[in-house]
Amino acid sequence: MALFITFEGGEGSGKTVQARALHRKLVRLNLPVVFVYEPGGTSLGRRIARWLKWAQGSEMSPLSELLLFNASRAQLVAEVIRPGLLNDKIVICDRYTDSTVIYQGYGRGLDMELVRIINGAATDGLTPDLTVLLDVSVEEGFARKGARARDRFEQEGVVFHQRVREGYLRLAQAEPERWLVIDGCQSRKKIAQIVWARVSQLLGGVGMGGA
Ligand code: TMP
Repeated sequence: MALFITFEGGEGSGKTVQARALHRKLVRLNLPVVFVYEPGGTSLGRRIARWLKWAQGSEMSPLSELLLFNASRAQLVAEVIRPGLLNDKIVICDRYTDSTVIYQGYGRGLDMELVRIINGAATDGLTPDLTVLLDVSVEEGFARKGARARDRFEQEGVVFHQRVREGYLRLAQAEPERWLVIDGCQSRKKIAQIVWARVSQLLGGVGMGGA
């Protein structure tokens, strides 16, 4: 059964850990599942991701950022996500169009209508069935990241990341049937159980024996 699930959240929210845990669970159940992430997920996307996260020297304009994220996304949708769904697979994507609404729209201040138009063009309007939001405070997220090297987004100030957090909560509130908002301060196991409860429901009760 085709199902498109995305994971979203600010820096250090734990979304990647949970997206991967769900992937492992579905593999264990022998269900056809594909795991991808943004930016990246294809050979072209990985090259674009390197610029987006680590470009130094020249300032990248917010519009360039918007277009590059969507160039990576258009390739990922065409090469992996759409074919996967057409083949009745469950596709899990770590970040998707909502990240652009949040980071380039709320974060960088680009016109929201423009962001939606470009996102829509890159995906041909493909929307997730379920989006899981891991919500943690900006302080907690950065504390988890520790001292490792910070990419262009992680180097942004607290105010930027506060806009990211608030933007996510606002988006989720506006479309509650698509979003599952989870307090990211709970244990990994507990969060995985909450995610699994919703996913197994969408899959018609498969593997309800716990996370
Ligand atoms: P991460 O998911 O590995 O943390 O890194 C991706 C970074 O890129 C993260 O800081 C969010 C940012 N981003 C955007 O600004 N817009 C987007 O559309 C996507 C997919 C990610």
